[in-house]
Amino acid sequence: MFCLLLLLSAPLVWGHHARSPKSAVPPIALETDPQYWYDEAFEGINRIEEEVQYDEVARNIVMFLGDGLSLPTLAAARALAGQRRGAPGEETRMGFEEWPVTGLAKTYCLNAQVADSACTATAYLCGAKNNDYTIGVSGRVLPGDCKAAAEPANQLDSLLAWAIEDGRSAGIVTTTRVTHASPAGAYAHTSHRYYESDQDVREMGADLETCPDIAYQLIHSYPGNQFKVILGGGRREFRPNTTIDEEGAAGRRGDGRDLVQEWEGRLEGQDHSYVWNRTALLEATENPPEYLLGLFESGHMQYQAEAGPEEPTLEEMTTAAIKVLSSNPRGFVLFVEGGRIDHAHHDNLALLALDETVALAAAAAAAERLLQADSLLLLTADHSHVFAYNGYSPRGNDILGTAQTYEALDKLPYMTLSYTNGPGARAHIDGVRPDVTKDSDFGSLHWMSPADVPIEWETHGGEDVAVFARGPQQKLFTGLYEQSAIPHRAAYAACVGPAAEKRAACKAYRNRSSQTRLRDTLMVAPVLMAMYRYT
Ligand SMILES: *[C@@H]1O[C@H](CO)[C@@H](O)[C@H](O)[C@H]1NC(C)=O
Ligand SMILES: *[C@@H]1O[C@H](CO)[C@@H](O)[C@H](O)[C@H]1NC(C)=O
Ligand SMILES: [Zn+2]
Repeated sequence: MFCLLLLLSAPLVWGHHARSPKSAVPPIALETDPQYWYDEAFEGINRIEEEVQYDEVARNIVMFLGDGLSLPTLAAARALAGQRRGAPGEETRMGFEEWPVTGLAKTYCLNAQVADSACTATAYLCGAKNNDYTIGVSGRVLPGDCKAAAEPANQLDSLLAWAIEDGRSAGIVTTTRVTHASPAGAYAHTSHRYYESDQDVREMGADLETCPDIAYQLIHSYPGNQFKVILGGGRREFRPNTTIDEEGAAGRRGDGRDLVQEWEGRLEGQDHSYVWNRTALLEATENPPEYLLGLFESGHMQYQAEAGPEEPTLEEMTTAAIKVLSSNPRGFVLFVEGGRIDHAHHDNLALLALDETVALAAAAAAAERLLQADSLLLLTADHSHVFAYNGYSPRGNDILGTAQTYEALDKLPYMTLSYTNGPGARAHIDGVRPDVTKDSDFGSLHWMSPADVPIEWETHGGEDVAVFARGPQQKLFTGLYEQSAIPHRAAYAACVGPAAEKRAACKAYRNRSSQTRLRDTLMVAPVLMAMYRYT
């Protein structure tokens, strides 16, 4: 447990202990059934049916997720990107901001007014709202209830699983541990997001039989065991606590398993590659293997502004993933997370939060360059943060500086960017608000922006988040909708998953695809027969 508290995601542990469990409030009974959210999403699609282009189908989907990428974060990040180029900044358009369609998603969860990254991942990847801390399971599962999470009827398939079912490829990329809440939404079924390794399950007093850890699920359970690409941090969750990894960090597993070796063993005889540094990733990008696993840190990957030369950027990981996945003519679904915007905000580190947002924009731009018009690109956030963009400063004012022209009553400077709560709260001395511009580390990467309420880790915010879309059926993403509608709308566009059953054009698309499959089978048949003869 102590180790968990060191993690950047730890604020939720405190939050959980500090108040009575939210699950004490009985959730609205109907909403615990995932079908409720599926139907809600299908009704939403029906309402905007006139927007649907009859036979336009997305072959590929890339979903970008900025963890904690609130609208003020977006506005401030674009100002920073522009100011770094010497422009005033406000007019800057980060690539994805030019995508033709935007919408808004409501982020609350079944039992939570303000969401965490686990229930939101379930919403935007599996299409149903559930309880906070839980991932890939229905609202019938409460946090820590291993038995309920093990019930197949309570487990939800993700957009990536729907794509795999249709013969497409799937993969995940993140700057956090690959077992962290957001990417886990693509493959895990768990009653608690902190069950990342068997050791966590054990230390939290849960039963390993009914509660397989998230790393184990990624390597051995469906659909993680079908992923063609897994890139991010988190090596320690895959390695025994008796071993030291490539960069000198200890593993965390107590069961003696080396899941990286097990992944390699499972793919023996197939074209696969495990990499742990940037040089090796770039080599793999040149000559893409069929399966690629890259774990670049023991824990989360470093903030891009502080990363060493052997840490790949999110853009480089995204490029590698697309190169690998593109070998499937039937298409793919890729999930890409800029996961550390959230961590910087929790520590009131505004500059790092903005810089990570700029890095996410670069990754989205790379996807746009690499993919054709038959790819649907989405970029959204899981939840907001209590991050504010203040004052009446003139155009081009330093986005990381103090607000200008409108004086505070106490005549002291105040920042353009600050927080409602968090560790950056400073005590007033003799009733006087401190002048933070006098801090010796003012303006450095780890200088904390001021906050009002002192809280160990800044909290998420409860308002809506933006959705940007470009590609086939992009118009499905206009308007304001539940976050759980997102994967259904994407699935509808791509003719996968339950939403495809609602769309007439998908039958023809699937037939066409099965003809392709038949043709492929006929082409390999002579090879197979030849092999059969010699065995
Ligand atoms: C590894 O984990 C096991 C199981 O929890 C534990 O008994 C053992 O002491 C741990 N070893 C180390 C070196 O931490
Ligand atoms: C990167 O990984 C490869 C493959 O394991 C290794 O041979 C190489 O030395 C590593 N490069 C660096 C700079 O650590
Ligand atoms: Zn968070």
